[in-house]
Amino acid sequence: MSNKNQERPYKVFKIEKGTVVDHIPAPKGLLVLEVLGKKNDGIVSIGLNFDSQKVGKKDLIKFENKIIDKEDTDKIALIAPEATINIIENSEVVEKRSIDVPEEITGFLNCMNPNCIVNKENLISYFEIVEKSPVKLRCKYCERVWEVKYDMIINNRK
Ligand code: CTP
Ligand code: ZN
Repeated sequence: MSNKNQERPYKVFKIEKGTVVDHIPAPKGLLVLEVLGKKNDGIVSIGLNFDSQKVGKKDLIKFENKIIDKEDTDKIALIAPEATINIIENSEVVEKRSIDVPEEITGFLNCMNPNCIVNKENLISYFEIVEKSPVKLRCKYCERVWEVKYDMIINNRK
């Protein structure tokens, strides 16, 4: 509305090289960051609560100098399957990846059942995805079905 706003071309700085995770439905941006952000040397910029025609309100995260891999996109898919991944090189979008919910996931989410053998014997978790929207997964060990929750993300555990 004001001239001041028109003079400001970007609300979050463009990057020269790296990955932009866009269209994360708000407020899941910080959860996506929690999952991806820890092993990053470059600048990470975060925008929360932008208006978006596609998802209503969206969050976005820009990782400078980091190209995310399939393991990372699988993790994003479990939390925010609507997100789009843009790979930036020489300040241009060189690749747009839409992400697919994987069929299974190992070692990233923990089963919330305290009596599950995966917890008792400290095994590597294994879930099959049984529904994609919203994502629901079944623990291979105790067969209980879960929606993805913050507490299930193993990275969060200190
Ligand atoms: N972007 C960036 N740095 C660049 C180029 C693009 O940070 N050098 C960001 C844009 O700000 C946007 C995303 O990457 O958040 C995708 O860029 P672009 O494809 O140009 O935007 P849109 O056409 O709006 O994307 P979409 O089709 O996914 O809505
Ligand atoms: Zn279990």
